[in-house]
Amino acid sequence: MAKRPTVLVTRKLPEAVEARLERDYEARLNPDDSELDAEALLRAAEGVDAIMPCHSERFPAGVIERLPESVKIIANFSVGTDHVDLAAARARGIVVTNTPEVLNDATAEVTMLLMLGAARRASEGERLVRAGGWRSWSPAFMVGTQVTGKTVGIVGMGRVGKVVAERCRGFAMQIHYHNKVRLPAEVEQGAVYHPRLDDMLPHCDFITMHCPNTPETQGMINEDSIAKMKDGVIFVNAARGSIVDEDALMAALRSGKVKAAGLDVYRNEPFIDERWSKIETVFLLPHIGSATAETRDAMGFRALDNLDAYFAGREPGDRVA
Ligand code: DGY
Repeated sequence: MAKRPTVLVTRKLPEAVEARLERDYEARLNPDDSELDAEALLRAAEGVDAIMPCHSERFPAGVIERLPESVKIIANFSVGTDHVDLAAARARGIVVTNTPEVLNDATAEVTMLLMLGAARRASEGERLVRAGGWRSWSPAFMVGTQVTGKTVGIVGMGRVGKVVAERCRGFAMQIHYHNKVRLPAEVEQGAVYHPRLDDMLPHCDFITMHCPNTPETQGMINEDSIAKMKDGVIFVNAARGSIVDEDALMAALRSGKVKAAGLDVYRNEPFIDERWSKIETVFLLPHIGSATAETRDAMGFRALDNLDAYFAGREPGDRVA
């Protein structure tokens, strides 16, 4: 019988995913879910044919160059691939895959949670109730911003952006979007396309980010773009922290230019800038956009489908390098 490929699995994955891994591969699992820094990752990768990492493991060029010769594929358990230097992987002939589609609904749910949480002051309200500080009610108490019927600007109308648009339609919101390409009319469903981000910003009561982290998108929300937004805009990011200049967003929240923000992602996760916790008008979540049991299973199965295809000599469906 041919030797089964060895797969290094960098984090604890759902039971059903690990069961399939153990059924079909020599799986090196991580039952303690311990974090692997670059050196630990390189040691653990000794002699493996494949790595199944999450976005929590980093593969910059320096790590890719030092991966053992045996590693042929990095089958990510994530849709984002900004933790992997794709050019360096290509240069070494290492195949890289991701897990698109399966987390669209979960991420869109968290986007709506952030939008609603920021607009309706959920974080402030929850803190008040928990701390036993709620003493009275009046019509002026904890008044927020209504979401229903407002204009939302979606930055990046890809797989997740389109589901967010559908959910926003459920709140009778008018949809504007900025994307590299305009969508066909039947997909647009009346959404207003803006080829230039700056042209969309002044129209929006809410702005929500759904683009990948690339050299072009890094820092795209900055002092200049914020200045073009409506006064009192509500800003949401469930994509990647690096697309936002955090100093600029904090300043805008402090001045009230941005009335509230809902954030699931940050620069330098999980060691986020501690100034965030001092800003009352920001609703903070710890990168849980895709964290549902259903989606975690689906991500694992999708990553395994890619591995299966590769080791069966077929092109993996979600190859990105
Ligand atoms: C993704 O899949 O990119 C999510 O951010 C979780 O890693």
